[in-house]
Amino acid sequence: MRFLHCSDVHITEDYLALPWRKLGWRRWLALAELSVGGRARAYRQARRTLATLAADTRALGADHFILSGDLTAYALEAEFQGARSALGSLAADPRRCTVIPGNHDVYTPGSQRTGRFARHFGHLMESDLPEHRREGPYPFVRLVGEGAAVVGLCSARVPPAPGIAAGYVGKAQLEGLAAVVADPRLARRALLVAVHHAPRTAQGAPDHRLHGLRDADALLGLLRGPRFAVLHGHIHQRYHLPATADRPHLFGAGSSTEAGHEGGWLIEVSGGAVVGGQRHAPRL
Ligand SMILES: [Fe+2]
Ligand SMILES: [Fe+2]
Repeated sequence: MRFLHCSDVHITEDYLALPWRKLGWRRWLALAELSVGGRARAYRQARRTLATLAADTRALGADHFILSGDLTAYALEAEFQGARSALGSLAADPRRCTVIPGNHDVYTPGSQRTGRFARHFGHLMESDLPEHRREGPYPFVRLVGEGAAVVGLCSARVPPAPGIAAGYVGKAQLEGLAAVVADPRLARRALLVAVHHAPRTAQGAPDHRLHGLRDADALLGLLRGPRFAVLHGHIHQRYHLPATADRPHLFGAGSSTEAGHEGGWLIEVSGGAVVGGQRHAPRL
């Protein structure tokens, strides 16, 4: 079985053309990052690139597409609509597509309060084992074929201020994940756990306090060995840390639509374990 893992597609509206009054102070501050930092330029083609990656899922013979958060730049309604339409028919099919939120998808309290992410992607968070849910729809479980299951977690929390981008899964979801791991119905399946924040950097170290996954060690402690993979984004670098006896595979998909760095991981599952990953670059 084969999975295409992408992340951090950051569909970005033309902020300079929007009425500033409606943006709110958090996005005002973020505009410096967009214009001075060149983000607007880096994601100008994001919709088109995401549509190409979605089409690649079928072309590559992948059974399932996983997008591990940061679908938007700053959680605007139009950015969610853009992500949904770029995914096309894939976004309508929970059998073939899993999507979880990133910190940019809950960028403002308003976007979180109004459930903007869930309005566009809630249908993809249905669970085949709903008894294991602990916090809203999480963790949800999607059975894929005979040999794999995808588990969706949420580490995205409304940041207290721009610049703070840390996240956590939390005790309730971890307890649900422990129940998923112990579920005998899943014993012969590889588990691909999608979470936005990176448990480890490309160098294998914990990410820093204002950016990292606060309960990374607790998460990794539940997922030991090659039966498990954590599929994440947040750090905009593509890397794979292979599983050991004490740790799952870690796949960081990087930012799949960032100009010059487009792509993700093609992950192979066989015999109830994750057996490898290949970098995939779309033809644009
Ligand atoms: Fe991101
Ligand atoms: Fe992020």
